[in-house]
Amino acid sequence: MSETATGVSVKGANQTGGAAGNNSFVVVANRLPVDMITEADGTKTWQASPGGLVSALSPVLEKHQGCWVGWPGVADESPEPFRTERGVLLHPVELTQYDYEEFYEGFSNATLWPLYHNLIVTPEFNRSWWDAYRDVNLRFATEVASVAAHGATVWVQDYQLQLVPGILRQLRPDLTIGFFLHIPFPPPEIYRQLPWRDEMLRGLMDADLIGFHLVSNVRNFVELCRSYDFEISGDITIREAGITITTPSGHKLGVGAFPISIDTSAMATPTASGSHEEADEALEQMHLDMGSPSTVFLGVDRLDYTKGILQRLLAFEELLDSGALDPADVALVQLATPSRERIDSYRITRSNVEEAVGRINGRFAQIGRPVVHYQHRSVSKDVLMRYYRLADIMLVTPFRDGMNLVAKEFVATRADSSGALVLSEFAGAADELTQAHLCNPFDIEDTKKAMLQAAWGLKDNPEMMKERMASMYNQVMEHDVDLWASAFLSALDKARA
Ligand code: ADP
Ligand code: F6P
Repeated sequence: MSETATGVSVKGANQTGGAAGNNSFVVVANRLPVDMITEADGTKTWQASPGGLVSALSPVLEKHQGCWVGWPGVADESPEPFRTERGVLLHPVELTQYDYEEFYEGFSNATLWPLYHNLIVTPEFNRSWWDAYRDVNLRFATEVASVAAHGATVWVQDYQLQLVPGILRQLRPDLTIGFFLHIPFPPPEIYRQLPWRDEMLRGLMDADLIGFHLVSNVRNFVELCRSYDFEISGDITIREAGITITTPSGHKLGVGAFPISIDTSAMATPTASGSHEEADEALEQMHLDMGSPSTVFLGVDRLDYTKGILQRLLAFEELLDSGALDPADVALVQLATPSRERIDSYRITRSNVEEAVGRINGRFAQIGRPVVHYQHRSVSKDVLMRYYRLADIMLVTPFRDGMNLVAKEFVATRADSSGALVLSEFAGAADELTQAHLCNPFDIEDTKKAMLQAAWGLKDNPEMMKERMASMYNQVMEHDVDLWASAFLSALDKARA
């Protein structure tokens, strides 16, 4: 038995490489791209799991015909590995109810998530959650070690699995290991609050390449590394590993900014299953059903306190209240995917959002004609595309967001340069979508101003609005998810070499 720098004991670790599987490309993420659902009659089915990570990685895995190691989304289930219709091998990892509570709800989403999102709510530090985090990371690493071929490339995803690179290096020194963080990396003074900060950082440093979305994330990470005994050289670059860090054991790793994006080819057609005419008819019907408002605002988010859904609703309410927007003429559609529903801060957020929806409709709606249309459920990609096409003004107003793929998905539906995007300056996407109507979501007046400027711009200055949208459209089309993955994977090859 040997012990990694993170203190996780690894049975059977060896320096020649353990027993190998036959997968030359393995992605490991907390979740599989599908969640297991048990129907009322007991039959098990699968449905797409939530979040931007899955949206971005699914096409990458399909292209590489790789193996995806992850949790099937429900506690105490361990289905057999299976291959999807599109050729991706799914290798489930079981989480018990205890793991679900301590590792997933606890350490991942009540400690790390708020800590990395700049303390929007207060992180909780609990020693038994940390123990569960280490145990579950060991389990994920062990599963990866059993499926990866000798010399395979393993791409570890996100904050739930930050100890996996260190454990995997012990188990399988033959592997090339990349790590990508899908959420922001906080300023060092915030990261340092974490009682297990040293173990966590050292667990990561055994990767060959660490990728972040933004230059500012890399800057925070490098600044943190300067306070440790690492050697740091190079400059921060985008889509390359411009920084090299050497650990005291002599291991070298690359660090760079790789802004994630979307599968633009999937956005080009209005529906996967129907004709353009059918899609247009469905869209018209949807608009009629809403009472044909002249301006439709749209929000699409996981129901998460980082997304600023409540504050967006309050801004909308104040605009109706002041008469700046006419309730007979506008509508706001808010799609909110259920997320982490048992965690207190999520429950409170949901209850505040739903209270605001009820209040706004109570104050401004007519019978049979709501002014806020709210759905607390996931919709299919086809239906989501219809909502994107229906919207005049997309509202993406998070307090903090690693990237925010919704903003890019909306822009990708605008080949005709129509519509406008109101975007928080604290969403990673704001670095690229500079022609959006940027706002500070902590400032309700600024948010209202951006919403009105978008609405007035569409009426009074359509040419200028088209130019802004065209520039964002080109940016998204030229920087798609393929570019993200290929840039990361080629930087990983170079870093390992
Ligand atoms: P996050 O990863 O924090 O959830 P992103 O905006 O990066 O945020 O990604 C969210 C992904 O989930 C997008 O690909 C979006 O299309 C999808 N999504 C969000 N809400 C819904 C919904 N109600 N139904 C279906 N898909 C959704
Ligand atoms: O993109 C951030 C992220 O936390 C992913 O890691 C995750 O898959 C997604 O959002 C959805 O979160 P969860 O898996 O907790 O439902």
